[in-house]
Amino acid sequence: MPHLVELRNCRRDYDNGRIVALDDVSFTVARGDFIAITGPSGSGKSTLLDILCGLEEPSAGEVLYDGRPVRGRTAWARLRAARIGFVFQSFHLIPALTVAENIEIAMLWQGLPARGRASRVTELLDRLGLGDRRAQHPMQLSGGERQRVAVARALANRPELIVADEPTGSLDSRSGADIINLLEDLRRTAAITIVLVTHDRSIAERCARRVELVDGRIAFDSAREPVPEAHP
Ligand SMILES: Nc1ncnc2c1ncn2[C@@H]1O[C@H](COP(=O)(O)OP(=O)(O)O)[C@@H](O)[C@H]1O
Ligand SMILES: [Mg+2]
Repeated sequence: MPHLVELRNCRRDYDNGRIVALDDVSFTVARGDFIAITGPSGSGKSTLLDILCGLEEPSAGEVLYDGRPVRGRTAWARLRAARIGFVFQSFHLIPALTVAENIEIAMLWQGLPARGRASRVTELLDRLGLGDRRAQHPMQLSGGERQRVAVARALANRPELIVADEPTGSLDSRSGADIINLLEDLRRTAAITIVLVTHDRSIAERCARRVELVDGRIAFDSAREPVPEAHP
């Protein structure tokens, strides 16, 4: 089976090449991976994440999704809508909508009838322990609860991949750890692949695979660590 995502020699530069955000990076995401991308500010973490889901296109190199090269905004937009969920540092919930509506809105373009959407919302709220919050508005929730609503929204269309840029960056360490546990649980029970960016070492250590960027290059990848020689 092909890798879920593969970057081949991806470069991303700005300002006519004066700024190199990502420098000839080759990188694969396997199905079932739970990857933390770490690195100093400006090292290219967000750029790498955006390129692997097509929010940015590489200046050179190519991205394969499920074994096929993907090019162009339309192809990526279609692929994201069907197969990828997003979680952001600042939640991106709509303040005027209730918790249930914030989740349902993600399903409006899927052609699911209203009753199907409603039952999916209930299922997600129950699963994420938000059943008693459905009629509330984001302002009435704690940061950790808001991020759980955002995870529910990301799951609405049954994605195979969740990408998250600093999903715990606005949370205290306890709520941050809860979100990571929740993502790990989804990886295990719903076979969802997860790639997140974090600058928090304790968050990264909870992830099965850690990739560190320095100056737009991969300086470390725990999946590439040399395997110690077996002793007879
Ligand atoms: N749209 C842009 N225009 C110019 N420079 C950019 C743009 N986006 C990112 N960069 C630069 O690329 C580098 C990597 O950025 P980014 O991927 O956001 O880093 P990180 O997420 O690790 O903080 C930084 O030097 C940043 O200033
Ligand atoms: Mg960033």
